[in-house]
Amino acid sequence: MIKACIFDLDGVIVDTARYHFIAWRALANELGFEFTEEDNERLKGVSRMASLDILLEIGGIELSQGKKEELAAKKNENYRSYILKMKPDELLPGAEEFLKELKSHKILVGMGSGSKNAMTIVERLKLKPLFDAIIDGTQVTHAKPDPEVFLKGAEALDVEPEACVVFEDAAAGVEAALKGGMKCVGIGSPDVLGKAHLVVAGLSEMSYEKLMQLK
Ligand code: BG6
Ligand code: MG
Repeated sequence: MIKACIFDLDGVIVDTARYHFIAWRALANELGFEFTEEDNERLKGVSRMASLDILLEIGGIELSQGKKEELAAKKNENYRSYILKMKPDELLPGAEEFLKELKSHKILVGMGSGSKNAMTIVERLKLKPLFDAIIDGTQVTHAKPDPEVFLKGAEALDVEPEACVVFEDAAAGVEAALKGGMKCVGIGSPDVLGKAHLVVAGLSEMSYEKLMQLK
């Protein structure tokens, strides 16, 4: 029985994956190396500091902890300059419609994002009314692929993990959902998200009926 859906934010509800990419690429270029969209796939769903470690590994650069913190803060400042300009129409196609359809069928709706900037986006895009519970990167100790963010989401919704379906655009997020004993719908390419129970290109391809077929 499916009682709740828990959504990742970046790349599922909003197109911020693009802004993360632009900000990381700017940092890589500044450090003197290229950073491609393919490289960026490895960063999706991964925490800020772990993302920086991957980026530096790609560039073959080793830095002190202090310098790394400085660069992570710089990337975040650049990233925030984009999200602070976001408009309500930057919700990904089909997101609002699907969330509302779920509510009309009494399915609980949660957010499970590893981002410490999630609430800024929620406020800018006025997303709060669409969700029954929101767990973000400020409330977890273990980043995806650890299931903590989704398990906390299920707990906040008062639903057992087995009755939850997670929507994720990142391989690390799919892994987290499966580790948490939840079903998972991948948003993006089956090449990257093949472990999910179902993969669709975007939420505009989802419906309550399709969700119920996951049972
Ligand atoms: C995830 C993104 O949602 O949040 C990652 O997919 C990002 O790319 C992570 O690194 C952490 O985000 P933030 O906003 O705390 O740096
Ligand atoms: Mg994501």
